[in-house]
Amino acid sequence: MLTNFLSLLFIELIGAGEETSANTLGWVFHFLACYPQVQAKIRQEIQQHLGSHKLTFELYETKLEYTKAVIKETLRLRDPVFSNARCCLEDCTLVTSNGDKVVVPKGTNIYLAHNLIHEDAQLWGNDAQEFKPERFLDASVSIDPYKYCPFGAGQRSCIGKRFAELEMVMCTVKMVSNFQLQLPRSHPTKTLELPEVVVFTSTIGECHVQLQNINA
Ligand code: HEM
Repeated sequence: MLTNFLSLLFIELIGAGEETSANTLGWVFHFLACYPQVQAKIRQEIQQHLGSHKLTFELYETKLEYTKAVIKETLRLRDPVFSNARCCLEDCTLVTSNGDKVVVPKGTNIYLAHNLIHEDAQLWGNDAQEFKPERFLDASVSIDPYKYCPFGAGQRSCIGKRFAELEMVMCTVKMVSNFQLQLPRSHPTKTLELPEVVVFTSTIGECHVQLQNINA
């Protein structure tokens, strides 16, 4: 019994806690290689707030808004947990965006397609498909948790959200402080084909990023 419980816990933490962040960071590095101007802004932000100092928790909490926006935008377009499910505990009626009513009986399983919600032009505008971290910079615009839900929403949302956000910022700062990321000449393509069915958001082919040490 205890062994089963420990195995499940281990699988949950590795699957939920490791693969998700690793997958997202892979996409962050791909986008940074595709958009050198975004990478330059992160480097500028690091130089402005950190200089040669190490990233502290206080700096993380109060600064690096652009770096955080890059990670949020990556999670919007390449959400590793691209769908989620809920079981309806009582009969209810949903109203669609064009006013139609859909009756959902008790016991129905509902699948929420995060990736479709995150790319919906009605929610995000006509540039919904574009990589634009700036959309997360305007503090006056509060983002509805059901419009942007990489960590789920409600009582059962991701328990590791804060940890994941922190580790992804730390890794990105470390990477951009030390390396210039670029698309290699052998694989210059910005558009990677996404498979239809995956566990985490991966590519059909390989994702290549070339690193050049900028401190050497
Ligand atoms: C980019 C990183 C991550 C993403 C996108 C992510 C996403 C999610 C999502 C969508 C859920 C389901 C929430 C729901 O049903 O509403 C979830 C649940 C969960 N996540 Fe994460 N997660 C991430 C990182 C982590 C980390 C680092 C940990 C642990 C160290 C973690 C542990 C968990 C656990 C234990 C649950 C189940 C919570 C429950 O059922 O009450 N996750 N995560």
